[in-house]
Formats: sequence, structure tokens, C-alpha cells
Amino acid sequence: MTGLSSEDISHQRDAQLQFKREAAQAAVKYIEDGMAVGLGSGTTASVMIDALAVRVKNENLRIRAIPTSEASGEQARRLGITLSDFVQDPILDIAIDGADEVHRETLTLIKGRGGALLREKIVASAARKFIVIVDDRKIVDSLGSRMPLPIEVIPWGWERIQTLLISKIGARTAHPRTEKDGRIYQTDNHNFILDCVFDPITDAASLARDIAAITGVVDHGLFIDMASEVLVAGQNGVASLRR
Ligand code: 5RP
Repeated sequence: MTGLSSEDISHQRDAQLQFKREAAQAAVKYIEDGMAVGLGSGTTASVMIDALAVRVKNENLRIRAIPTSEASGEQARRLGITLSDFVQDPILDIAIDGADEVHRETLTLIKGRGGALLREKIVASAARKFIVIVDDRKIVDSLGSRMPLPIEVIPWGWERIQTLLISKIGARTAHPRTEKDGRIYQTDNHNFILDCVFDPITDAASLARDIAAITGVVDHGLFIDMASEVLVAGQNGVASLRR
């Protein structure tokens, strides 16, 4: 029970969509003609791709984009954004993506609620500037407080990795993400995601190292020292946080 009426919930949803639009609009202003751009995944990134497509069309921008998921690639293609790859564009001028949590002070992120964390990290790390767009609910004082940490693992032997995450790394739980019909969810890379609940994460760098050292872990949703700028939309407009 949330105590909210359906009207309140729909009002909240409208406000959140509006915040996503404002953050997305602010981010796409950074994009200039001729740039190579990384396109994130998730609902906020999708709003950003829509906004970018409008600029591409209206201003006849010649940009090339590398998407972080099949869904974002499909959306971009449909909206007339030219897609690229790392052969053509080994370095991106800018990447723009959403996040699930942003630590208020360090700007460390948790990403991967949408299952695209691996490609998102590859794309963000190839970009000169990585801009994160969120609404203000995603700013946290303690990482892991809003959602579990997603960890992408190879399917074979995932139960062994689950055991190690709990017994050696200290996860309270490490559930495989499932589809509505109960089947285990598979990422665009055909891997599984273990959604791991930890006590509040105080040393993200050491946790990240320990997780990455487990054989069979492909990557995790901690993005440390990666965000160049976080654009946070809320009641008072869009604020910029920088490291
Ligand atoms: C997908 C992600 C998304 O960027 C993150 O989940 C935020 O999504 P949304 O904008 O829908 O809240 O990391 O893997």
C-alpha cells in the first residue's frame, strides 16, 4: 500500500515524464554537427533520443550514433539518426544516458535496471564526455538504497557465481532477473543479470574490484569516476552536478 490514489500516481508519472524531458532537452544542447554520440538506454534515454532526432531533422545535423541496446538502436534508426560503430568512431565526442542511482557527492552511478549496463559502460568509457540525465529522485546519499545492484554474468554456472556473491562478497541476496513468465531474463548479449542487494555501499571501488574478480562475472552496474556531468531535473528546473 502506497497510500496514493490513482490520480496521485498518474500526476506523479506526468511530473516524472516532464522532468525526463527537461533533463533530455538540456543534454541534447551539447550535441553539435559532426559529432559521434553514444545513445543510452531506458525511458529517460529514450526521451533524449526523441529530442535528439528532432534536432537532427530540424537543424540537419550530421551526427553518427552508437546505441547501447538493440531497443535504442531501433528507435534511433526509425527516427532517422545515422548509426555508427567503433571501427568508424573509436572515440565518441559525447555519450548521454540515464541512471538508477547517482551518489550525491562522488557521482558514482548504479545502472542496469534496463539490462543494458555492459554496452552502456563500453559506450560511456569511449566518450570524451559522459552526461547523465536523471530526475531528482535518483540522487542518493547511500548507493544501493533505491534498488539492487545489477551484475551481468554468463549463463553457464550462474548458480556458482550467485553463491560466491553471497558468501564471499557479502550480498544479502543475488536473484536472477526474470521475465513476467518466470523465464530468466537475457540481456542483449545473451547473459543473465543477478540483482544483488547489499548493505549500503560505502566503498564502491573496493566492491567493484571484488565483484569483477569473480570468474564468470561479465560486468556490474557500478559506474565509478565516469560521469562528467549529471543533469538533474526537479521542481526547480535542471541542476548540473560535476565532479
Ligand atoms: C539501463 C539503464 C538505465 O539508464 C537506467 O535503468 C535508468 O532508466 P530509466 O531512465 O528508465 O529510469 O541503466 O540499463
